[in-house]
Amino acid sequence: MSEHEQPQTDTPWWRRAVVYQIYPRSFADGNGDGTGDIAGIRSRLSHLQDLGVDAVWFNPWYLSPLADGGYDVTDYRRIDPRFGTIEEATALIAEAHEHGIKVIVDIVPNHTSDQHAWFVEAVNAEPGDPVRDRYHILPGRGDDGSEPPNNWMSVFGGPAWHRLDDGEWYLHLFAPEQPDVNWRNPEVADEYDAVLRFWLDRGVDGFRVDVASSLTKDMTYPDIETDVQAVMSSNRVPNHPHWDRDDVHPIIRRWRALLDSYDGERMMVAEAWVSPETYPLYLRPDEYHQVFNFDLLLAGWDRDEMASIITDSVDRAAAVGSTPTWVLSNHDVMRETTRYGLPNGTNWRTWSVEGPFDSLDPELGLRRARAAALLILSLPGSAYVYQGEELGLPEVWDLPEEVLDDPVWERSEHRQRGRDGCRVPIPWSMDGPSFGFSEVAGWLPQPAEFAGYAVEAQTGVSSSTLELYRRTLAARREYGTDDEQITMLELGDEVLAYCRGNGLRCIVNFASTALELPEYSKMIVASNSEQDDSVLEPDCAVWVI
Ligand code: GLC
Repeated sequence: MSEHEQPQTDTPWWRRAVVYQIYPRSFADGNGDGTGDIAGIRSRLSHLQDLGVDAVWFNPWYLSPLADGGYDVTDYRRIDPRFGTIEEATALIAEAHEHGIKVIVDIVPNHTSDQHAWFVEAVNAEPGDPVRDRYHILPGRGDDGSEPPNNWMSVFGGPAWHRLDDGEWYLHLFAPEQPDVNWRNPEVADEYDAVLRFWLDRGVDGFRVDVASSLTKDMTYPDIETDVQAVMSSNRVPNHPHWDRDDVHPIIRRWRALLDSYDGERMMVAEAWVSPETYPLYLRPDEYHQVFNFDLLLAGWDRDEMASIITDSVDRAAAVGSTPTWVLSNHDVMRETTRYGLPNGTNWRTWSVEGPFDSLDPELGLRRARAAALLILSLPGSAYVYQGEELGLPEVWDLPEEVLDDPVWERSEHRQRGRDGCRVPIPWSMDGPSFGFSEVAGWLPQPAEFAGYAVEAQTGVSSSTLELYRRTLAARREYGTDDEQITMLELGDEVLAYCRGNGLRCIVNFASTALELPEYSKMIVASNSEQDDSVLEPDCAVWVI
């Protein structure tokens, strides 16, 4: 067995995988145009192998005008030429497998791009033509139809309806370039089945399903009577017009049956921002294998809050025979190194516009992020690591306004800078026009401090975050256990500690004073590069056995 293989076990791979998320546009550029691509990913597969991840998830790489970073798909069976070709994607899937790494691709079933052949056909058709029924295209209100069909709002801000030249309106829960498809139309379901098959036939091991809980809509399109902004953004409203509706589940069952008809352990994980009460419904044995749990990602650096999220998540997953998922970061949120450097309770979506900017303590943020990594990587279930987390990369929260690309910036009327700050290209080397990301400057500018975070700068430096991740993932393999329960340990009000079935203990110190460690026989990893045998400093974590 190579040092990177998991020990032999009957447990399906995804139940305890470390899944590394690649945002292809910003990972590595192979053709020198400043945009990351598949050639770049193929040239950096050894990084993933050295890190010791079990799987990789690729954000959308399909043909797209990139109005929303590729979540606006023109053709699900083609790779955008900026990212490569279908042949390269197929080769990458095979190469990842040769490295012992499983592959998950992103599926975007809630909406297409407005450039998708279906939408172009719909726009060019007359009102009432059946091809319009693949989307939600309706006449407007008012005498001349100049008012939208209802008062629904877009997740990105502003109205959720856009008017076509012939006067009808189409629904877009996200950007206007992302028209929502109509899942009541049987052609839609057939088409997405075919797309899933297309990628399964190319060897992928799973799918990350985008905005998985909003596919079905209330087709009476009612107005929202009270506080439309609050209702539209809440996932706790019974019979919500589009979040978490009961009729989304038959779609999931259909996909699950399709996946199960393939050999191997194919899986699907849902991006579903649902309430704790309905979360388990998505994990029924004939539905999703996993649902992202974003509770920890949304939590502050708070012992009690994190402890209760952890116990609830473990219990909730166990109750339905699934496993918890742990996520601290992804391409949609401020990186945790920066989040944890802000006072608890800060709204990090608006902070980078409103400040106060001197409330950020980057060293504290990094210390906590390293401890949080130890926390999630010792828990049962699978952990999702977003590219750059293993480098301790900070959010680039002060990108110049003129380079901002995320539609959130404009649609929020500049109240939120959006998500570009976590999508800045990865630094590989300590110099060059984009620190080894490309031969030229990257599509978003990197700050000078990225040199110090480069893979080259951290490799072989034992105190670095990269080496900490490598040691931690190696230890996770060595001390991995199929036992999916934890026992919380009482080490004081400001200490979060738990024990796995094999005796592995993770201890995190949330206090502002040092903690005397309890007895142990071996220290396995420590988030503090200056960890001693007996004392755990504030905002630090250790694994002991
Ligand atoms: C998901 C994606 C996000 C995208 C949105 C619309 O939330 O993670 O990046 O903007 O869906 O597709």
